[in-house]
Amino acid sequence: MLGVIGGSGLYSIEGLKVVEEVDVSTPFGKPSSTVVLCELEDRKIAFISRHGKGHSIPPHLVPYRANLWALKEVGVKRVLGIFAVGGISHYLKPGDYVVVDDFIEFTKGRVSTFYEGAMSVKVEGKDRPSELLKAGKVVHIDLSQPYCPQMRKVLIDVLEELRLPYHSSGVYACTEGPRFETPAEIRAIRLLGGDVVGMTGYPEVVLARELEMCYSALCVVANPAAGISSNKLTSDEVIQMMKQKEEEIKEVIKLFVKN
Ligand code: HPA
Repeated sequence: MLGVIGGSGLYSIEGLKVVEEVDVSTPFGKPSSTVVLCELEDRKIAFISRHGKGHSIPPHLVPYRANLWALKEVGVKRVLGIFAVGGISHYLKPGDYVVVDDFIEFTKGRVSTFYEGAMSVKVEGKDRPSELLKAGKVVHIDLSQPYCPQMRKVLIDVLEELRLPYHSSGVYACTEGPRFETPAEIRAIRLLGGDVVGMTGYPEVVLARELEMCYSALCVVANPAAGISSNKLTSDEVIQMMKQKEEEIKEVIKLFVKN
């Protein structure tokens, strides 16, 4: 099963049947939204809306652990995260897609692991994600390829097939938010190698890996990052771009799930 974490409009895809909406409880609290289980032809997709119903959860308060745990619980093997980002690299234009292949994170107050050593949450049950937590262990996961290369290849093929403007690699810089960055911060991130900037890409990518799910991220450049154009940044601009790209993103998901 494919899991998709993105905006709430994404599961009104033509041909997609909503089978069930599950209210999942996890040892880490409730996910951002119900998990919407769908079928597209013979494929299964589970959707979570990252910012909740009516976009009510800000980036720094998204229950990242509950979201990934819930997807694992319903049987998801691959997770696709959809993100709005600010473009930093000079070649990026609003509306471009970036299939990121690495990240840097500048977050401050987020719990970003399930592995809390002796503090790990213990949950009974053989087939549950908890089994993976090996309670009490100190674990260092490998992130030399943070985003699943197979999923990235499928994404690239799909974007190519749909003739959408895309970049096949890029470094995602995750800031804490909810405020936008300053121009000096964007200059610093650029120097450190960031191509795009967003507030929600981390720790999602790491938590998926900890639960042994494949993970990839499809980024949509919504705006030039702070200081790159002379315009003020507004969340309206970001929301508008994502609305504008919604049909394209649905087409991407539709083709992606067949692969
Ligand atoms: N900065 C951080 N997050 C974002 C941006 C940005 O410029 N655009 C969309 N999400």
